[in-house]
Amino acid sequence: MRNGFTPQPCHDSRDRTEATEYDGVSAEGGDRIRRVGVIGAGQMGSGIAHVCALAGYEVKLNDVSVERCEAGLATINGNLARQVSSGKIGEEARQSALRLISAAASLEEMSDVDLVIESAIENEEVKRKILRELCPHLSPDAIVATNTSSISITRLASVSDRPERFIGIHFMNPVPVMELVELVRGIATEDVTFETARAFVTSLGKTIAVSEDFPAFMVNRILLPMINEAIYTLYEGVGTVEAIDTAMRLGARHPMGPLELADFIGLDTCLSIMQMLYEGLADSKYRPCPLLVKYVEAGWLGRKAQRGFYDYRGEKPVPTR
Ligand SMILES: NC(=O)c1ccc[n+]([C@@H]2O[C@H](COP(=O)([O-])OP(=O)(O)OC[C@H]3O[C@@H](n4cnc5c(N)ncnc54)[C@H](O)[C@@H]3O)[C@@H](O)[C@H]2O)c1
Repeated sequence: MRNGFTPQPCHDSRDRTEATEYDGVSAEGGDRIRRVGVIGAGQMGSGIAHVCALAGYEVKLNDVSVERCEAGLATINGNLARQVSSGKIGEEARQSALRLISAAASLEEMSDVDLVIESAIENEEVKRKILRELCPHLSPDAIVATNTSSISITRLASVSDRPERFIGIHFMNPVPVMELVELVRGIATEDVTFETARAFVTSLGKTIAVSEDFPAFMVNRILLPMINEAIYTLYEGVGTVEAIDTAMRLGARHPMGPLELADFIGLDTCLSIMQMLYEGLADSKYRPCPLLVKYVEAGWLGRKAQRGFYDYRGEKPVPTR
């Protein structure tokens, strides 16, 4: 746990968010949203399911296979258990949260959810395919959100059958710990969708920063070029993995070095975000470092693959360069 954020368990939907009024638009995050579908049970999808269930929402978790869903459920179980042992939540809250989450073997099972949060891999084609297949199964009123780190909300919304009920809800990693959520509306997102999403995110105990729909939004627009530059620094032999991470931890007071952080995010995700910045803003300053490309091509995707700028297969992470 890197900060003091403690999710507050609440198991009675009436206790969640009261209907709220923002600029004259009524939003009913707590009442309108009861069931949440999460697509993608990786590190982000499992984290989103975790915080939603702790806040009292029923959650259906989908991935490409039942095994992936079960791996996501196992991660959630382990992370909830860690929160119990560190005193952040009680055992009862852990058990109630687990009872609220179930695996959804197919997208058809999303027919009764009020909000779907798409959190599959950062690949536009994959996300477009999911949205095309998902929307016909949803209730007409359901809101569709994406947790994309960098892809245009407007472009993804245009694939759906409901651009006015489509929004970007961008959680930070690890979701149970990080307080911030970026909220991004597409060109067609209706006010009521925005306000409902705002009330929903607030009911999770998160703080919102509103971003315009530009490549990589705010946090990653600033963070990823720094990580990419750290990889260039390694590529050009200015420093070793260890030296670069130590330099930024102790010299700039970053809690994690940039290469350690890249491994934590996932090098495939880092590369996709840099490509989106490079193409979306048509500026060579965002050119992904060839060394990042090479690591992704090798399947060295960071922590989730046990190897990236560090090798995690032993007792202690060992730099790979
Ligand atoms: N990693 C981060 O730090 C971070 C932070 C914020 C947002 N995000 C975004 O969250 C999303 C997920 O990233 P992640 O880090 O959890 O990646 P991940 O690799 O840990 O998990 C992605 C999951 O998507 C699943 N998937 C792939 N195709 C699918 C399909 N067709 N249907 C359902 N599931 C499918 C994979 O099986 C995998 O379990 C991405 O859009 C990413 O940009 C990531």
